[in-house]
Parts: sequence; C-alpha cells; structure tokens
Amino acid sequence: TTGANGSFGAEGPETETDSSGTGGMRKSLERKGSAPNDAVHLQRRVGLFSGVALIVGTMIGSGIFVSPSGLLVRTGSVGVSFIIWLACGLLSLLGALAYAELGTMNTSSGAEWAYFMDAFGPAPAFLFSWVSTLVLKPSQMAIICLSFAQYAVEAFVTECDPPTSVVKMVALLAIVMILFVNCYSVNLGMAVQNIFTAAKLVAVLIVICGGAWKLFQGNTQHLSNAFSGDTPTLGAVATAFYTGLWAYDGWNNLNYVTEEIKNPSKNLPRSIMIGIPLVTLCYALINISYLAAMSPTEMIDSEAVAVTFGNRILGAMAWLMPLSVTVSTFGSANGTLFAAGRLCFAASREGHLMDILSYVHVRRLTPAPGLIFHSLIATAMVLYGTIGSLIDFFSFTAWIFYGGAMLALIVMRFTKPNYPRPYKVPIIIPVVVLVISIYLVVAPIIDTPRIEYLYALLFILGGLIFYVPFVKLGMTPRFMNKVTLFFQLLLEVVPTSSMFE
Ligand code: ARG
Repeated sequence: TTGANGSFGAEGPETETDSSGTGGMRKSLERKGSAPNDAVHLQRRVGLFSGVALIVGTMIGSGIFVSPSGLLVRTGSVGVSFIIWLACGLLSLLGALAYAELGTMNTSSGAEWAYFMDAFGPAPAFLFSWVSTLVLKPSQMAIICLSFAQYAVEAFVTECDPPTSVVKMVALLAIVMILFVNCYSVNLGMAVQNIFTAAKLVAVLIVICGGAWKLFQGNTQHLSNAFSGDTPTLGAVATAFYTGLWAYDGWNNLNYVTEEIKNPSKNLPRSIMIGIPLVTLCYALINISYLAAMSPTEMIDSEAVAVTFGNRILGAMAWLMPLSVTVSTFGSANGTLFAAGRLCFAASREGHLMDILSYVHVRRLTPAPGLIFHSLIATAMVLYGTIGSLIDFFSFTAWIFYGGAMLALIVMRFTKPNYPRPYKVPIIIPVVVLVISIYLVVAPIIDTPRIEYLYALLFILGGLIFYVPFVKLGMTPRFMNKVTLFFQLLLEVVPTSSMFE
C-alpha cells in the first residue's frame, strides 16, 4: 500500500482540474462494446436468492443503529417516527418497483446513468456520474465508516462520550482497511462481504429477540401514548425522512448488476418485492425493541442506541452489540466501496471521467485508481463532516437523482412507447414517487434554508463546466497524457482492453 499512499496527496487536485480529459464520449461508447469486462458482466450468476441477499445486505448497514434517535428528535413523537419508518419502507419499495421497469427495459449496467442517457441524453447522464463519483458514493462510505467508528469506540468508553478526534481516526482506519481489502483482491472483497452480511443478520435477530423478551415481561409503557408530542413542521418531516431513508438506501442496488441477473425480467422485480418488505419488517421490529428497552428520551440521549440496548438486555453478553454493529457497518462500507469502484470504472470507461480511473492493477486485477480516488474524498468528508450533516446532504442530493429516474420512466413511456418492457409498473407509482421526491428536495429548502443545499445544487450544475469542453467537445488537455502515465507507473495499472489483447 505504500505506493498507493504516495499518490494520496497528488491525485486529488488533478481530478478537480480535469475530471474528464478523455477522448470524448462517442469514442468510448464504441470502446464499451468490445470491453472484455462486458463479457464477464454478461455471465448471469445472480438468482432470486442472491438478488434478495444483495438488496438486504446493502440496505441493512449503519442506519438502523444510528438513525432512530435522530428520527425521534425530528418528529417529536414515537408514533410519528414509527409511521415515517414504515413510510420510508413503502417509498423505497415503490421507487424500486419503478427501477425494476427501468432495469428490465434498459439492461446495461450503470443504473441511473443508462436511464438518463436514454431519456434525456448525455448531459444529464454526465451530471449523474459526476455527482455520484464525487459526492454520493464517497459520502455513503464516510457515513458508514463514521458509524463504524462510533460503535467501535463506544465499546471502550463507558463514563463519557468518546472524543470526536478518536472517532474520526478510527473511521479513517476503517477506510484504509477496506481500501486495502478491495485493492488486494476481488475475491477477498467478496468474502468479507458474505461473512459480514451473515453477521449483520445475527445482530438484527439479537435485537428483535431481546425486544420481544422485554415486551413479554410487560415493558410496553414507552409504546403507549405514542402520539403525545408536538406536531412536526413539513420541513422537519422531510428531514426526518432523510434520516429514515438513509437506513433504506441501497434499494436500487440490484439495478447496478442487471447484466448479471438470471432471468432479470422475473428475478429483478421478485427480489425487490421480497427484499424491501423484509427490511421494512426488520426495521419496524427493531424500533419496537429499542422502545421496549428504553424510553424515547433515553433513546435520544444515547450516542449509540444499540449499545444502550445491549447494556440493558444482554447483561454479561452486552459486548455482543457493539461488536455486531461494527461488523455490520464494516461489511456495508466494504460493499459500498466495491460498488463505488465499479461505478467509477464504468463512468470513466464511457469517457465521463478521467481515463486513469477505469484502469485496473496489472496483477491484482482490481480497479485500484477508482477505489483510491473514492477513499480520498471519503476521507475528506470524515474529517470535515458529521454523521447527521452528511446524511442530510447525501439524501438531498440522492433524491434529486432518484426523482430524475422517475421522470425518465414517465418521459420514456411517451418518447419510446414501443420499447419492450418485460416488467411494467402502473404509471401512478413513478408519479407518486416523483411528487414525493420533489417534496423531499424542496421542503427543507423552504422550511429551514441552509447554505449547504445551495452548495449542493451549485455543485451539481457545476459539472456542466467540465461537461462542455471535455466530454461534448472532446478536448483533451495535453498534460493529461503525462498525468495518466505518471499514475499508471506509480500504481501499476493498465487499461483493461490492453490486458486481453
Ligand atoms: N442503508 C445503508 C445503511 O443504513 C447504507 C447504504 C448505502 N448505500 C449504498 N448504495 N451502498 O448504512
């Protein structure tokens, strides 16, 4: 990893000044057809079971262990927060069903990128890959690693809140470890993913069983009078949704691997219809369990709800809780970086980002430059952000694009009426999700205007400054070749096409 470390400082600025110095999109689209990876992608290995596992394993991560307190603060009552937990599940299900139509209609990988390309053309598609590579994926990584650190540190600190600097350092350590795993080998990354997914289900089961046990003992007092409290404002409800929707994020994850699903027109919708209600059920039960063990006020005060829960319920086995949460979040962060590497890899291969980001390591065959790049941005986010602020920022930006995908579906019903649609949703579903996503994006701006939202919008549109010269006009600054060569030698990476010649 020393070589990789050497590039940390140097790689960041380059991407700023030249995020798309490639030979333009047309050329790279041609390249796509012959890319050997597509042959690998086309192997259909994901059946119904793995499809469900992919959805559930991505969705359950840090959120259910950190968000419940935040949601309670924002809604002011147990009842409203519970309704929002369920509503988030329903919204994710509806959104995912619409994505099932999109994914079975356009089966190429890249999810939103491909749908935007079809419905709106290259500029909006570019803006998506720009934002997801620079903001969405790294912020997911940063949030999950911060949650990991909070629980890891909490296990050793009993008397007071753990110092922020220690939490941040542990989060950075997690990023480095996950980066190492994924640069080392794809198989190691997969193994970590499977083991940790199993462990996360154990954690969920412990919480649910512990809660059920408490309820049978008659600890139902915190669940009665659920609606006593102030009525939240519309903007507060929207930000409460941000907190809840974070826990459900990942509902569209199967769409990134449509090319690998066996019989996708059946298995994609089915995995969604099994996976998302399953997660919703788990989350509802876990929330009830928390309230069986502590009062809403205790829940709000707790830095790490699951640890407080464990201390109350598990007695001598209380250490199990922080351990399983760290395991769950570590696995989630691993899966997120795994997917992020893939996305970065695909987008740059299409000519939407720097070429170097699509290269793979000569011997290890891992997309190291993309992974390092994401981890660098995630590192900055860990240093300068907090879990809460990052979640708001993430959800705000993500829902602009989820809404965009709904619009793409609706638009294509009119512009491409005869396109084959093996799975078709009632048009009302994307319309409802679109309306809700507009509300989610607009309500917080109107209710409590924060400068961050403006920055996010400016950042998204700022992508156009790079799009026009580097992608649309296909200009390549001359120094780019030197930069690419430098990183190629430093990281020992090559374009995938050259490896199979
Ligand atoms: N829902 C997950 C959690 O609660 C985060 C998922 C991040 N999203 C993703 N596509 N990997 O931690």
